[in-house]
Amino acid sequence: RLDVTETFHGISLPGHLHTQDSLNYATQFQFKDSDTLIVSYPKSGTTWMQEMVTLIFSHGDPTPSQTLPNWARAPWLEQYYCPHVLSSSQGPRILTTHLPYHTLAPALRGSKAKVIYIARNPRDVAVSYYHFHNMAKFLPEPGSFEEFLSNFLNGKVHYGSWFDHVKGWTDPKKNIENFFFITYEEMCKDLQGSLQRVSGFLQCTLLEEEINCAQKQCSFNSMRDNTMVNYTLVSQEIMDHSCGKFMRKGKTGDWKNTLYEHQSHVFDAVYEAHMQDSHLRSTWTN
Ligand code: PPS
Repeated sequence: RLDVTETFHGISLPGHLHTQDSLNYATQFQFKDSDTLIVSYPKSGTTWMQEMVTLIFSHGDPTPSQTLPNWARAPWLEQYYCPHVLSSSQGPRILTTHLPYHTLAPALRGSKAKVIYIARNPRDVAVSYYHFHNMAKFLPEPGSFEEFLSNFLNGKVHYGSWFDHVKGWTDPKKNIENFFFITYEEMCKDLQGSLQRVSGFLQCTLLEEEINCAQKQCSFNSMRDNTMVNYTLVSQEIMDHSCGKFMRKGKTGDWKNTLYEHQSHVFDAVYEAHMQDSHLRSTWTN
């Protein structure tokens, strides 16, 4: 395992991608008003949104998403290679982050950059994240699902607590001028409508045939087979594809096949305790 850990604001992060310098670069980032920032907790549909935004800006032309890996066209702000990618990028910048709101709030203050927050049912996030730990050799050994679930609910996993992440970025008191919220569940239910809503937010309206092309390209099956997004380009020591697939199932409610009843009750209680004061409380009732 390559699981060197970097710690930042009390949150652990994979050390092969993050350094104190790269994290400071993110927190001091000079946003441009033309930037689009995709924000998510891991396993919430980040790669899917990177693909959607790429396809919206290309007006449905699949070339960028078929020729450039997702991290080279929508780099993670906090990962060490970001400055290098941005130095050679042209056109409107697409950035990605998994960092919590409070770490980027000063850099975003006063900016008109467009922020897209994507959230997913945390039960499905936990299951997806567990499977990902088994293949991503840069993450700590997850142990049994029971152990992993307990760590997830206590926020003792890389990138910290799902609850803090979602509540921080969606707090109505946060100070972001151009903010758009969408769920993974909405995208699964109505991909075409989601593409239309995101393109409206980005002020990049697409013709019907362009939306159709984009929709085809960012379907689960198409992304599963696209080496630019399915992470088969990364080496075996970083992601072992014999231990699982990055594009695993792409479903909503798959947690029901994994969580035992007692685990689901514990989850509900922790969810309720954290989310009772959030307007998102009833978004994922189970
Ligand atoms: S990461 O590692 O944080 O960037 O992962 P992330 O991209 O956020 O989440 C990976 C999960 O998203 C699913 N996915 C999709 N679902 C439906 N349709 C499309 N097009 C799609 N693309 C990615 C992917 O399969 C992971 O979820 P699980 O439940 O593990 O299948």
